[in-house]
Amino acid sequence: EQARQIQQTMAEFRLSKAQLLEVKKRMRQEIERGLKKTSHQEATVKMLPTFVRSTPDGTENGDFLALDLGGTNFRVLLPRRLTNGPVPPQLFDHIVHCISDFLDYMGMKSARLPLSFTFSFPCHQTSLDAGILVTWTKGFKATDCEGENVVELLRDAIKRKEEFDLDVVAIVNDTVGTMMTCAYEEPDCEVGLIAGTGSNACYMEEAKNIEIVDGNEGRMCVNMEWGAFGDNGCLDDIRTKYDQAVDENSLNEGNKGEDKMCSGMYLGEIVRQILIDLTKRGFLFRGQISETLKTRGIFETKFLSQIESDRLALLQVRAILQQLGLAGTCDDSIIVKEVCGTVSRRAAQICGAGMAAVVDKIRENRGLDHLDITVGVDGTLYKLHPHFSRIFQQTVKELAPKCDVNFLLSEDGSGKGAALITAVGCRQRELVA
Ligand code: BG6
Ligand code: GLC
Repeated sequence: EQARQIQQTMAEFRLSKAQLLEVKKRMRQEIERGLKKTSHQEATVKMLPTFVRSTPDGTENGDFLALDLGGTNFRVLLPRRLTNGPVPPQLFDHIVHCISDFLDYMGMKSARLPLSFTFSFPCHQTSLDAGILVTWTKGFKATDCEGENVVELLRDAIKRKEEFDLDVVAIVNDTVGTMMTCAYEEPDCEVGLIAGTGSNACYMEEAKNIEIVDGNEGRMCVNMEWGAFGDNGCLDDIRTKYDQAVDENSLNEGNKGEDKMCSGMYLGEIVRQILIDLTKRGFLFRGQISETLKTRGIFETKFLSQIESDRLALLQVRAILQQLGLAGTCDDSIIVKEVCGTVSRRAAQICGAGMAAVVDKIRENRGLDHLDITVGVDGTLYKLHPHFSRIFQQTVKELAPKCDVNFLLSEDGSGKGAALITAVGCRQRELVA
């Protein structure tokens, strides 16, 4: 009877193919809403223009400084010879401090280098080098920068430091940087995906379909911000009471619906809510809710990845739980492992359904019966989790059978791609001048 009740709880997370096709359909509707001038304002999936109009052509050249403010890490790097080859304003001062150290280390303080800024948050762009922060995501909670041009904030911080001069040429979402990094290796890469702390995608859309940008020629990359998918209630029928509990416990209640079902930052929280419930019902940990279980954020993605690894014996799973302060029996470990597996499977499937909508849209845009395309991918969930990528890929294949989708892992992060965008930006400036 206990086993049956646990299965019943898990069943709420198991989506049928029909349900996933429905998710795909709704994503498509949200895409259209975000692209249309009349509905863009209210749209949840924002479809933000990026002013990146082509993938690399291989002639980009020069030295570029690349900043990369991602989910897990902040990086400063210097991509060379491209051919062949927590509280603002302090946040920005901190960033500039890191650049300063880096330039010292490289002995390059006197050069006025062009710089690209990978900023993995939603920005309204009006050009390559202007990005107004729509809202913080991924647990960043600082209202000061919202509504501000992030490029100006960075430029101001560079001026305040009075140590060096840099030419901020482009602000780039991490999905876009990832797509460009991979497109350098694989020219048919026209989609970028991040499955990490947050979850998001971008792709090359026909300019004529992006109604809020003038001009109908060619294509432009669109930063979808699909983390907000579901914020208008369109996924409520598959949301469980555990998802609701996660939302109520989070910093930005009511926002970022899908991010909370799919992104690394929240998967562990869903697991924790289920474990609390199963414990309350007496199915786990002898019915005792420990302090640990009450602690927000204990199940980081890396723990989920370990627990779900098939190479670990049950005793090892039990040891991991013990390390977390969740002492239990082997039976408990079996249940915890199943809970983790069920939650991450659903995440991979919902992302997969979203991606299926994207590649089918591209296929239809081009009037093709069959599309071959590459998706550039990054993010700790995709890279570290033992099952996420496989289930995600399977789902895309099942839900978009007319597309042959090749997934390419970005090994270099998104900074290289952002530098490529900067190279193009510099070239365009020279043409205008
Ligand atoms: C990095 C990219 O490799 O992955 C970043 O360089 C990106 O731009 C990050 O934001 C995403 O992964 P995570 O797991 O850190 O959110
Ligand atoms: C969040 C951000 C988005 C970013 C994603 C992956 O969803 O809003 O801009 O691309 O995380 O890092």
